[in-house]
Amino acid sequence: MSDVPRESSGARAEDSILSDQAAMNSTTVRQWAMYSSHRQQIEKLITPASPCGRICVLGAGNCNDLDLPWLTQMYSQSHLVDLDVGSLASAVERQKPSRAASICLWAPFDLSGIGDALRNWRQAPPSDDQILKCIERIANCTTQRPWEMERFDVVVSPCVLSQILISARQSIGATHRLYPALRDALLADHLKMVYRSIKPGGRAVIVIDLASTEDFGSTAGIEEDQLPDLMRSLIARKKCFNALTPAALSQAAREHLKITAPTFTAPWLWHLGLAKSFLVFAMVVS
Ligand SMILES: C[S@@+](CC[C@H](N)C(=O)[O-])C[C@H]1O[C@@H](n2cnc3c(N)ncnc32)[C@H](O)[C@@H]1O
Repeated sequence: MSDVPRESSGARAEDSILSDQAAMNSTTVRQWAMYSSHRQQIEKLITPASPCGRICVLGAGNCNDLDLPWLTQMYSQSHLVDLDVGSLASAVERQKPSRAASICLWAPFDLSGIGDALRNWRQAPPSDDQILKCIERIANCTTQRPWEMERFDVVVSPCVLSQILISARQSIGATHRLYPALRDALLADHLKMVYRSIKPGGRAVIVIDLASTEDFGSTAGIEEDQLPDLMRSLIARKKCFNALTPAALSQAAREHLKITAPTFTAPWLWHLGLAKSFLVFAMVVS
């Protein structure tokens, strides 16, 4: 294992996709303290029954939602994947885990698998045929990601799925008639990638940022026990990421993973600085 970022052999997203994510990461890099309660919620979901297994984090970025010294005590190997090599490298440098040698960085790595097309489409709008071919490419993708050589006890996807879908939406436009099909293909691919990476008896934790204060206003005065009602109300009024509701994820898990009863956590708040918070929940599959 190495604590030095390495170039992955996977498809590489470039230009606008990478620079968008890197720019967002640079705005949140100093928010370790603000992420505290979010980090604790994720930590509860990834605490192993006994230390020594392997964990993979997809979209680890600045790792403000991961206490790396804790993670490396809990797991004998921690594989961190992200498009943004700089954020991963600086996270390890900032947190200085004593067992840094047990961390393997996979960056820059594009988890969408279609970053090349998404980047090109921002320069020249795609034809329907190009989008349909891309959807077919996602659906038929059998390429093993490099970190999938050995399966994991836990795979966690901390709010990266929304970023992948937003990148696609920005590339073809939310109102494009093929956007729903492209979005659903990317969602299915992400769930399948996460699920096939876990060992029998392992756990997949898919954390979803369902809505933000742009949808529900301030968090002032909202108690934790009111969050489930807030979530139900936002879903009913479609003031959220409609493709990522528990119902939509359940349907995708049924269809693509043949899983009939994924577990959903209660929602919590993730404070992204003082100005913006997200309503977050997780789907747990084992
Ligand atoms: C919401 S952030 C996750 C929070 C992060 N774990 C932290 O604590 O800062 C999403 C992360 O996913 C990464 N990301 C977005 N799209 C990606 C893609 N297509 N492939 C790989 N990583 C991606 C971003 O670079 C970012 O680090």
